[in-house]
Amino acid sequence: MTPTVTLVRGDITRRSADAIVNAANSSLLGGGGVDGAIHRRGGPDILAECRRLRASRYGRGLPTGQAVATTAGRLDARWVIHTVGPVHSTSEDRSGLLASCYRESLRVADELGARTVAFPAISTGVYRWPMEDAARIAVETVRTTDTAVEEVTFVLFDDRAHEAFAAQVG
Ligand code: APR
Repeated sequence: MTPTVTLVRGDITRRSADAIVNAANSSLLGGGGVDGAIHRRGGPDILAECRRLRASRYGRGLPTGQAVATTAGRLDARWVIHTVGPVHSTSEDRSGLLASCYRESLRVADELGARTVAFPAISTGVYRWPMEDAARIAVETVRTTDTAVEEVTFVLFDDRAHEAFAAQVG
């Protein structure tokens, strides 16, 4: 089963979904962009759980392309799924790692029983991935992943991102 894909323009921390995906970094200890916004609006319980993950399963941090869930704190969601996107490189093709972020987030969502998942445009901010290519990888991966998730919503923070994803969704 592949999920239906929808696009919205807005702030992912204001969305309601079973799971909201965070564009995290491997430390899991917060940052700017989506990461900063999720921790700010979601509150300290998210970071507390991230710290517990670092003290246990992810002593060396969450590797790029992998995903792990925590509470969503005060967000209108049951879980936040943290995933670490690749930094864009012109010398190395890291597309597989970016695709893995979406695939692994859906796998974790399935483990949780999440039926609706909201994604940001992973790696297209601080990690400098060109928006059009990131949109292509995101939509292709979600559309070809077998999952029990029924709806994936890409939450795009600006018009440029929204246009790039709309061009992929058709
Ligand atoms: N809601 C939805 N999208 C957002 C929001 C928000 N509140 N804030 C930013 N974005 C968009 C950005 O415009 C960009 O298109 O999310 C996309 C991803 O940008 P970043 O958040 O910078 O994430 P990324 O490029 O994956 O870099 C991750 O940045 O914040 C740090 O700790 C994070 O080190 C990690 C790195």
